[in-house]
Amino acid sequence: MGIDLALIGGTGLYRLSGLEEVVEEQVETRWGAPSDRIVVGRLGTKRVAFLARHGRQHDIAPHEVNYRANLQALQSLGASRVIGVNAVGGIRKDMGPRILVVPDQLIDYTHGRITSFGEGSGEPVRHIDFSEPYTASLRSKLLEAAAAAGIEVVDGGCYGATQGPRLETRAEIARMRRDGCDLVGMTGMPEAALARELGLEYACLALVANWAAGCGDEAEISLEEIYANLEHATARVPVLIARLLES
Ligand code: HPA
Repeated sequence: MGIDLALIGGTGLYRLSGLEEVVEEQVETRWGAPSDRIVVGRLGTKRVAFLARHGRQHDIAPHEVNYRANLQALQSLGASRVIGVNAVGGIRKDMGPRILVVPDQLIDYTHGRITSFGEGSGEPVRHIDFSEPYTASLRSKLLEAAAAAGIEVVDGGCYGATQGPRLETRAEIARMRRDGCDLVGMTGMPEAALARELGLEYACLALVANWAAGCGDEAEISLEEIYANLEHATARVPVLIARLLES
């Protein structure tokens, strides 16, 4: 039995409410274990797999996530379509806290992460096309589902992936803004590129948790505020996903 849609939940999203007939799959891959057991269940008539990117206890830092194992495990369960849900900081004016965004571009500022299935595999290097890092058809489905569900989402934007786990300095964000970044997060890469290597359809649903450093009025970013905003934003995710699956 295949999986109609897989979700990788980021900070603030550790389960998908509404899933029925749930089973937890412990999957091993050639690249090691994924971040946690994968929860597979039914949402309406469709089969959905859910994986918490940082583990359900949130004990895996962004740079420590085994992105290869996560994607390989989802594919081995039969998933061909993955939505990465990512908490982000907002840089662009219309991307403030609690806003949902479906980005269409990214810039990778991460370092020291394993970025390809080719690494250490002994296989010939493959250069994937990554001009459009997200799958257009899956992005469209997300946007259509949001419109149908009456959930406001911003269509497009450039996701800047930083190393973390610390938040950025104001100067770093100022540079990212000059580079053309609209959002900043720590987990968008190498996930998107690895999904492309596996031939998976992949789109990002970004949940704005806070204004990025220096973009809001406050001198510092408070964690309480981040979590409060994420709670607000994640509440809309199951509705959006259910609508997407109906189409
Ligand atoms: N920066 C990077 N990652 C994030 C942020 C941020 O401000 N907020 C949530 N994830």
